[in-house]
Parts: sequence; structure tokens; C-alpha cells
Amino acid sequence: MTERSLVLVKPDATARNLSGAIIARLEQAGLKLIALKMLQMDKALAGRHYAIHKEKPFFNELVDYIISGPIVAMVLEGEGAVERIRKLMGATDPRKAEQGTIRRDFGMDIQRNATHASDSPENAAKEISLFFSKKEICG
Ligand code: CMP
Repeated sequence: MTERSLVLVKPDATARNLSGAIIARLEQAGLKLIALKMLQMDKALAGRHYAIHKEKPFFNELVDYIISGPIVAMVLEGEGAVERIRKLMGATDPRKAEQGTIRRDFGMDIQRNATHASDSPENAAKEISLFFSKKEICG
């Protein structure tokens, strides 16, 4: 099934000029880039984006980190896109991610792990609507 996923290049990766390299990996894997922007998230947007982690002990740290610098937000589309992108990214903790994955190659630690991607088509729809209006999606 054709799916969409929200991907964020996180502040640690934009700071190290890795946005292009990360987008290239996703495009080279055959995923279609249909929306793209750079922004700095504020606390309200971070709280909504990470609402499912509100009760986690690392929530405040996670919010402070994600608003600490610019991010690149994008929507990618393709057959089974959610799972394919999660595979390309690898495990949340870069040290546990497989060789050749984005987080293994570009992540630093579990918080500064270079990228975020939606974990289900349902969450993708919610996340995409937080970052992009319908008009901004060229799909
Ligand atoms: P992400 O895919 O953006 O979704 C939630 C984020 O929380 C996750 O990537 C990690 O960056 C972060 N995270 C998960 N577990 C921990 C943890 N134990 N300590 C700090 N951050 C974490």
C-alpha cells in the first residue's frame, strides 16, 4: 500500500551539515519526497509531536533537545514507506543500529540520533498535519 511518513532531520544532524546526505539516502531508496521545510520547533509543537512520550522520564530532555536548533521536516511517500524508512534508519539507539543504517552512520547517541520517522501510518497522518498544510504537500 502507498503510505506517507514524516521524517525529521534533528538538530544534531542539521548542525553537522547532514541534511542532504540523509535526504539522498531516502531518495536513493526510491522514496518520493513530496514536502520539505526547515524550521525551529517551539515547545508547543514539540509537545504535540511527542505527545505519546509525555509520561516518559526523558520527555523534558527530548523537548529541550528537539527545540535546540533547526530541523528539516519532510514527507516521503512510497509503497510500505513507514516500515521501509524505519529500516533505513535503524534502531533508535545508533549504537544498536545495523551497519549501513542512517542512525548507525550519522547518529551520536539515543537522544542525538539524527532522525525521527513516523512509526505507523496512523501516527504519520497526525505528525504530517502538525508540520504541513495540505497545500504544502505536492503529492
Ligand atoms: P524519535 O524517533 O524521535 O522518538 C522519540 C525519541 O525519544 C527517540 O527518537 C529518541 O531520540 C528519544 N529517546 C528514546 N529513548 C530515550 C532515552 N532512553 N533517553 C533519551 N531519549 C530517548
